[in-house]
Amino acid sequence: MSTHSDIREKKVTTQRLREMKAMGEKIACLTAYDCTMAGLIDAAGVDVILVGDSVATVVQGLDTTVTVTLEHMLYHAGLVRRGVERALVVGDLPFMSYQVNADEALRNAGRMVKEAGVEAVKLEGGEVVCEAVRRMVRVGIPVMGHLGLTPQSIHSFGTYKVRAREAEEAEALKRDALLLEEAGAFAIVLEKVPSELAQEVAESLQVPVIGIGAGPHVDGQILVSHDMLGLYTRFHPRFVRRYATIADDMREAFGRYAKDVRAEAFPTADESY
Ligand code: KIV
Repeated sequence: MSTHSDIREKKVTTQRLREMKAMGEKIACLTAYDCTMAGLIDAAGVDVILVGDSVATVVQGLDTTVTVTLEHMLYHAGLVRRGVERALVVGDLPFMSYQVNADEALRNAGRMVKEAGVEAVKLEGGEVVCEAVRRMVRVGIPVMGHLGLTPQSIHSFGTYKVRAREAEEAEALKRDALLLEEAGAFAIVLEKVPSELAQEVAESLQVPVIGIGAGPHVDGQILVSHDMLGLYTRFHPRFVRRYATIADDMREAFGRYAKDVRAEAFPTADESY
């Protein structure tokens, strides 16, 4: 069994995440979409970097994640992979790349691993994706599940409000979490669900439960980097803590640069050849 300090230094693997849960050590996860940001996140000691299909909203400027393609995800995952040494890199499977059938799901997950170099994939849904999860796990592709507010289903949810407040949906979520674990998922993301429910799920599973808007009583947390940096400011959900105000800093820097160019204050002789 590794010690706490080993865990901070060593390459993060799915086995290590399970060990961290067993030791009660919280797992820190963030999203990234390019090499520079991924390298900074990795150097800061974040354990898991998810190349999220949230790239749609925070990078591509779209309203939902539904239209992201596998080609987009392969491109961004490849960029992220190049910037990371220690963190586990997980690639999101986009909408309709794994729902048609388990063969297609396996083929697309395989592309994420072989072409982009990710170490695991993430997909949304419970019972309905378990056959695909089993097939991936059987051939050696680690899979992270995602339940609760699953943004790829926005057109059927119709709203981004908290999920599973009602008993029926909460029971279904608990059942789905157990089924995903049985199918071999190495971790499960729970998005925007009541704290108590998330705690119950985390306590009922051996694999880590990673929360986003799921309260503090889970095994780890994930946020979209652009949200927590204050870089993407179109929405500010209650579960996002802003650790910086990067958008303000960038606007200010761009403005100063434009002013200097117009005033012929940039470049100086020292900045010229
Ligand atoms: O796409 C994404 O960034 C995600 C996280 C919010 C969990 O799925």
